[in-house]
Parts: sequence; C-alpha cells; structure tokens
Amino acid sequence: MIVRDMRPEDFPDLRANYYECYDERDAGLPIGIVLFRERPSEEAETAWFEGVRRSFDAGNLVSVVAESDGHVVGTCSVSRVGPNPDSEVGHVGGLGILVRRDHRGKGVGSALLEGALERCRGKFEVVQLAVFIDNEGAQRLYRRFGFQEIGVYPRAIKRGDRYIDERLMVRVL
Ligand SMILES: CC(C)(COP(=O)(O)OP(=O)(O)OC[C@H]1O[C@@H](n2cnc3c(N)ncnc32)[C@H](O)[C@@H]1OP(=O)(O)O)[C@@H](O)C(=O)NCCC(=O)NCCS
Repeated sequence: MIVRDMRPEDFPDLRANYYECYDERDAGLPIGIVLFRERPSEEAETAWFEGVRRSFDAGNLVSVVAESDGHVVGTCSVSRVGPNPDSEVGHVGGLGILVRRDHRGKGVGSALLEGALERCRGKFEVVQLAVFIDNEGAQRLYRRFGFQEIGVYPRAIKRGDRYIDERLMVRVL
C-alpha cells in the first residue's frame, strides 16, 4: 500500500468507494460519513470532482489517496475553510477521511492522516474535523494524531428520523 497525491484518473475508484458508503448505510451499518438522502447520480459526482480539481488547482486543497493493487482504497482531504488564504479563516482546513470497508483496521487510515497532515504544513495552520459521536475508532485515531476535542454539536446529523451528535476536534499544526 502506498500513500500518494490524488490524481484525476482516481475518480472512478473514488466514486465507487463513496457509493459503497450508501450500501453500508442501506445495510444498517453505522457509516460515519455525511451522506445525501439518495445516492447522487454519476453526473453529480462528475461535477463534484471537477470542483475538487478546481479547489486543488487554486491551492485550497490537500488530497492524498492510499493505493493497493492498483486501486484507491482510501482517501484523506483537507480543504480550506475560507475562500482563499486572505480570508480571516484562510489558515484553517477541514479534514475528511474514508477507507474502504474491506481495508479498515490495517493502518490505512493512519498512513493517510500522516500523509495529509505532512502536506498541510505551510498551507494550513489549524485542521478541524467533525466526527460522529459513536465513531469511537475514528476518535481514537484522531487523538493519536494530536487532535483535541473542542465540543459536541448536538443533532448535527439527521439520518432518516434519527439524530446523531458530532464531536468537533481541532489540531493546531
Ligand atoms: C475512520 C477510518 C478512516 C480509520 O481508518 P482505518 O484504516 O480503519 O484506521 P487504522 O487501521 O489506521 O486505525 C484503526 C485501528 O486499526 C488498528 N490498526 C492499525 N494498523 C493495523 C494493522 N496493520 N492491523 C490491524 N489493526 C491495525 C489501529 O491500531 C487502530 O486501532 P484502535 O481502533 O484500537 O485505535 C475508517 O475506519 C473509515 O473510513 N471509516 C468509515 C468512514 C469514517 O468513519 N470516516 C471518518 C469520518 S470523521
């Protein structure tokens, strides 16, 4: 498994990995990613990825993938909270991470976090994230990487008719 910068040709794998999250949710598994009510169309995903590329080209995004056997099995991105570095929140990045279900618990998430945080240096000064309150494995991982809890956002997520609180965490680089 290697961790490297995201490339345009990663899109089909990224889309497939994201769609798998909907399968997990539909199977009643506690997938800790914020999703839409319905799985977005392939066109919507293509438009999303174009936005990702624009953000990367503008210097507002750090994005790494974990590749195993020629496929992307995980990704971690940190995107600038403000519109550009001149904004008063331009030094803050928001982190998201996803590892394919069949590759979790093997160190992929740790390797992705390490690669992403390394690339954040010089670009962001603070990294923030929100994690589902019941996602204890992810919280352990973030604490190991120096993230500190700053509070709980009540009812941040509404999945079906169930509300889920989020824990907000921050790491000052
Ligand atoms: C949260 C997530 C990114 C973590 O990724 P991961 O690849 O499972 O993380 P790691 O394997 O590096 O670490 C997780 C655990 O596996 C253990 N582990 C690390 N290397 C390992 C290995 N080689 N073999 C077995 N276990 C290992 C770690 O010690 C850690 O244990 P802990 O839970 O007791 O702390 C992943 O589970 C995921 O994508 N979940 C679904 C989406 C999600 O919740 N995203 C977070 C949104 S905030």
